[in-house]
Amino acid sequence: MQKLNNKRIIVGITGGIAAYKAAELVRLLHRYGADVRVVMTQSASEFITPLTLQALSGNPVHTSLLDTEAEAAMGHIELARWADAVVIAPASANFIAQMTAGLAGELLYAIVLATCAPVCIVPAMNKVMWENKATQDNILRLRQRQIKIFYPVRGEQACGDIGFGRMPEPETIAQKLTTLFQPGLLDGKQVLITAGPTREKIDPVRYLSNNSSGKMGFALTSAAVEAGASVTLIAGPVSQRTPERVRRIDVESAVEMQQAVLKVINTQTQDIFIACAAVADYRPQQVMKTKIKKTLSSPEETLTLQLTLNPDILMSVAALQQHVPFLVGFAAETDDLMANAKEKMRRKNLDMIILNDVANPAIGFNSDNNAVTVLGQALSLKLPVMSKQALSRKLISLIAEAYARKVPVGKKTSPT
Ligand code: C5P
Repeated sequence: MQKLNNKRIIVGITGGIAAYKAAELVRLLHRYGADVRVVMTQSASEFITPLTLQALSGNPVHTSLLDTEAEAAMGHIELARWADAVVIAPASANFIAQMTAGLAGELLYAIVLATCAPVCIVPAMNKVMWENKATQDNILRLRQRQIKIFYPVRGEQACGDIGFGRMPEPETIAQKLTTLFQPGLLDGKQVLITAGPTREKIDPVRYLSNNSSGKMGFALTSAAVEAGASVTLIAGPVSQRTPERVRRIDVESAVEMQQAVLKVINTQTQDIFIACAAVADYRPQQVMKTKIKKTLSSPEETLTLQLTLNPDILMSVAALQQHVPFLVGFAAETDDLMANAKEKMRRKNLDMIILNDVANPAIGFNSDNNAVTVLGQALSLKLPVMSKQALSRKLISLIAEAYARKVPVGKKTSPT
């Protein structure tokens, strides 16, 4: 049912008796997985209350261009940029005329002018007003501007007339909206990704860590979102910007990362787990409460740090009793690449492993580019050097294909 997962839709409501049907439209879009924001004209609030729409959309309702508080939270330009699609339902004859003229005196008109997203209007009015040459001319001009018109249907109208002018049912409008978007490879799938290094405390000011920048995990996150997945990203200490539409959880140590991963999986069944983090294998056995003093007096003396083994996050997920996600691991090797990767795939019970050659300074840790070899159950594929963004898109499509092959059609791994 997640046909609009990750999609951001503005539902514009104008003043007309069909405004009550917009409530059902908002509810349906929300159920299809869309993030919905409602924008109402002044006259729309005479027909339906913003409070109803706020409850159904789960977001504050926007009503005024001149409300400084609302503009500060999310201004009209920001809203216009935020949207993947704008649908005006119902669109009154007055709204259609003002939109055709390019007026921007109210918030909804300003958004329609400022957005680059597809705009659909769903006219609903008395049949004579609809058939009027002025309205029909306006509709023609809007069509010439690539505005999509979801045409009114024939039926009995609120005023008692019978004819064309009725707003189509919300289900029909919602279905039509889904056709605006290309189906994504991971539509409606839950994907969990770990990224970056972990930091293992030695004392209050020192730690053990590694060279991971998190770039690959963050690029994979963006690619998974692009493919329609709901992504949770668990990140070690990195300075990467969180991609849009992602739930990010920040952690420091391997133990914290493992706890966060298991908590996410226990709260919401995950379809795919991509372990991209460079988790520290060891942590100091004891974290000193105060800073370790410089007590050595010559280079011949040594200071010993006792280390203990960190939990293997991938293995702990593979060992879960039920709902084990499709498991993707990474192998950063400097020697005997293939043999090591194959052994890791078997030992960690993985569905797929992505092999990095970290001995090559042109790729891997901290670099913007990478080249990998992908090993799966029936797959061995070498991908040439390319940007981590381009590589991530390829990897996500390989993961999606392998996941679809593993999960038979019709069988769902996560409850809906
Ligand atoms: O054993 P190694 O560290 O080489 O395995 C790398 C893969 O295992 C990566 O996918 C990494 O994210 C994951 N890993 C893990 N927990 C660890 C160590 C590695 O999940 N403690």
